[in-house]
Amino acid sequence: MNQSSLLHCALDRVFCRARAGSAAANHKIQSIAQSVAKAPTGQRTRRRRVPDHRGRPAVPFREKEAKAMVRINVNGEERQLDVSDDMPLLWVLRDELNMTGTKFGCGIAQCGACTVHVDGAPTRACQTPVGMLTPDSKVTTIEGVKGKAAQAVQAAWQKLDVVQCGYCQSGQIMSAIALLTDNQNPTDQDIDAAMDGNVCRCATYVRIRAAIKDAAQTMRA
Ligand code: FES
Ligand code: FES
Repeated sequence: MNQSSLLHCALDRVFCRARAGSAAANHKIQSIAQSVAKAPTGQRTRRRRVPDHRGRPAVPFREKEAKAMVRINVNGEERQLDVSDDMPLLWVLRDELNMTGTKFGCGIAQCGACTVHVDGAPTRACQTPVGMLTPDSKVTTIEGVKGKAAQAVQAAWQKLDVVQCGYCQSGQIMSAIALLTDNQNPTDQDIDAAMDGNVCRCATYVRIRAAIKDAAQTMRA
């Protein structure tokens, strides 16, 4: 219920008392009416209190009614979007650009399913407001990732049959590519540190580790 509706409910209750002849109620009506008149109209925000039909969780951010043009670069393409600048990048990718390879898991930067690269760094898209990006920021998703590390990871993932249900895997792959781009000879500790935030409910961790080592070997050869 928005601010205006709440005020009108309050007014209804007070009107009932006013009809019963209460002077205090009449005074209350005047003060509520003044509050309604003073309430700002252009910048009100609304918050969802239940998950929506797409399963997006309640209230991960304040969604402004006022929108602005946002410019971002995704997979090498300039995009101009009419969205609120506090909309998470994940929603921009999935809902505005129809790039559904990046997955929604937890929405609170805890599972890694939404991992993309921003200027090469693994980034949780669910907690990255699109307004934080500049037009020069380079966003890379699973649909557009390429290069030596990406090829090696893709080949290793297929060779070792890493994927089970697949839901977490675009995030796992994006984190693995970021690791191998910087470090072509990762130790177990390096792999643990890089992949720590990527959760797999199918527990494919052993195969992921083996595939990262296999991809690293391919890159060094
Ligand atoms: S959906 Fe972003 S970390 Fe889980
Ligand atoms: S493969 Fe199923 S969640 Fe990771």
